[in-house]
Amino acid sequence: MSENVNQEILDKLTKVCICKAISKASIKKIIASGADTLEKVQKECGAGSGPCGGKRCTPKIKELLEL
Ligand code: FES
Repeated sequence: MSENVNQEILDKLTKVCICKAISKASIKKIIASGADTLEKVQKECGAGSGPCGGKRCTPKIKELLEL
């Protein structure tokens, strides 16, 4: 299996926002479709609105935005 396919599978399995069960693949897709700020990503999928208040996912979303 190629590196890319492995990465895609991993992205689907990795949850960025644990509270809302949003995968890394979903966040990447939202960023690719034009959400270029943390606020836009959060509005699009609800990440950051779980019980932890975004404490766990916000840094990970920021990281993905910088890629
Ligand atoms: S992990 Fe995203 S709101 Fe808690």
